[in-house]
Amino acid sequence: MRKPDPCVLVIFGASGDLTKRKLIPALYEMRETGALPTEFKVLGVSRRAKTDAVWRDELASSVKEHAKRWDEARWREFSQCIHYFAGDAADGAPYGALKERLARFDSESGTRGNRLFYLSVAPELYEPIVGQIERAELVTEGMRWCSINPKERSWQRIIIEKPFGHDESSAASLNRTLGRVFEEEAIYRIDHYLGKEVVQAMLVLRFANTMFEPIWNHRYIDHVQISASETVGVGLRTAFFDQTGAIRDMIQSHLLQIFAFVAMEPPTTISADDIRAEKIKAVKAIRATTAADAATHAVLGQYSGNAALGAYIDHEGVARGSTTETYAAIKLHVDNWRWAGTPFYFRTGKRLAMKRTEIVVQFKPPAANLFAGIPHASGVVDGNRLVIEIAPAERTRLRFESKVPGTPLSIASIEMQADFDKEFGVEPLEAYGPLLVDAMRGDQSLYKHRVEVEGGWSAVMPFLGPASSAARAGIASNYAPGSWGPAASDAMMARDGRAWHNE
Ligand code: BG6
Repeated sequence: MRKPDPCVLVIFGASGDLTKRKLIPALYEMRETGALPTEFKVLGVSRRAKTDAVWRDELASSVKEHAKRWDEARWREFSQCIHYFAGDAADGAPYGALKERLARFDSESGTRGNRLFYLSVAPELYEPIVGQIERAELVTEGMRWCSINPKERSWQRIIIEKPFGHDESSAASLNRTLGRVFEEEAIYRIDHYLGKEVVQAMLVLRFANTMFEPIWNHRYIDHVQISASETVGVGLRTAFFDQTGAIRDMIQSHLLQIFAFVAMEPPTTISADDIRAEKIKAVKAIRATTAADAATHAVLGQYSGNAALGAYIDHEGVARGSTTETYAAIKLHVDNWRWAGTPFYFRTGKRLAMKRTEIVVQFKPPAANLFAGIPHASGVVDGNRLVIEIAPAERTRLRFESKVPGTPLSIASIEMQADFDKEFGVEPLEAYGPLLVDAMRGDQSLYKHRVEVEGGWSAVMPFLGPASSAARAGIASNYAPGSWGPAASDAMMARDGRAWHNE
């Protein structure tokens, strides 16, 4: 694997939660594994004035808390590459000094003019900051048509956090702004779910084995569930969440990315271009949901309170009478040769019964049932079920029917399990680490393409607009904390003769 290039990671939004809780601990972990370049600097940009030393001390306590391992001496050594720059990134004034600071890194630390900008700021600042980067001429060249040998020229790339837009048109506008300054090859739309081991392992499961691919289609698969349940509530993010909701926060971004890996055709190679080309096709094949279907193919909910925890609607920062969903379950169809007739169900929610992200592939029952009338522990011979648990456990489970030892003949469903931790004896890394290193290596395989993002928005728009008003009516407190969501969601599945996987 190619070593990442020397570079400066410029984090806009250095004082933010993401920087403290995720980015710096992830970089520290990556340094431990030897994955970072030797000539490497981090420059945090934020408005408040502080020295490098003060920022490093602040970061030390959060790395202690969030990184898998902590070693005082190693941190001290690593933290020497971390620096701070005070300035308002949306304003042009500080950019002269910022440029000088970056140039100094190049001459003193060999970072060779390579810059990785990270936008970890409020979404409304994305476009202003990209504009300032352009005006300050921090992006020195287009990559695609450049005549200099790629090994000799420096690069400038940008990582953009979610939410990427608020709807289809704002996402397209942000893409246009970015495209005026950066080549698509230099734009890294991050989704931390793509840094989770099991999402990539999906490629290996499907395409490095012979047994799954021949049956990975509508002839054998009844339906697929992609589900991310959380036990936490909205916490301190009420202001953000009330403007966003579960569909935008989780389905449009994370769950549709998982979908793309499940539904895509085999790529020609595992290069970023080939993988992204297939993901784009899968996302574009999602059927546009009609207004009539939007009312019956979605269930939205808001958690109620109990003796210990307040209801969503009562949280400070939540608008009066808010109909923002903390729970969403939607059904999508994919109109292509492989998936015609096999629905994909998406489900996510806060304050549910357990924290679990998983893919459930439910196979159809055997074509003919030879065992009708034979006792079965759970009632009937059902189709096989492949459950790919992404978090918190990283585990694949395959359910199949088996004879119960002894006579007379009887049947029970049993499971084979492959547990990543046990099998490989390694703890998964913080998802951001490998993604950051990929961006330093110029590998976009696990980043989203412009078309994927806009396609994802177009798939969920019917559930956000006026057609969703029926699903939103009566949403207030329609599910209890610790439950599996609104009863209407189970009813939606039951209408299709199916049930959510809650085991
Ligand atoms: C974030 C969402 O992107 O993902 C949060 O904004 C959510 O609302 C989080 O809690 C879930 O991530 P994970 O890795 O804990 O499943």
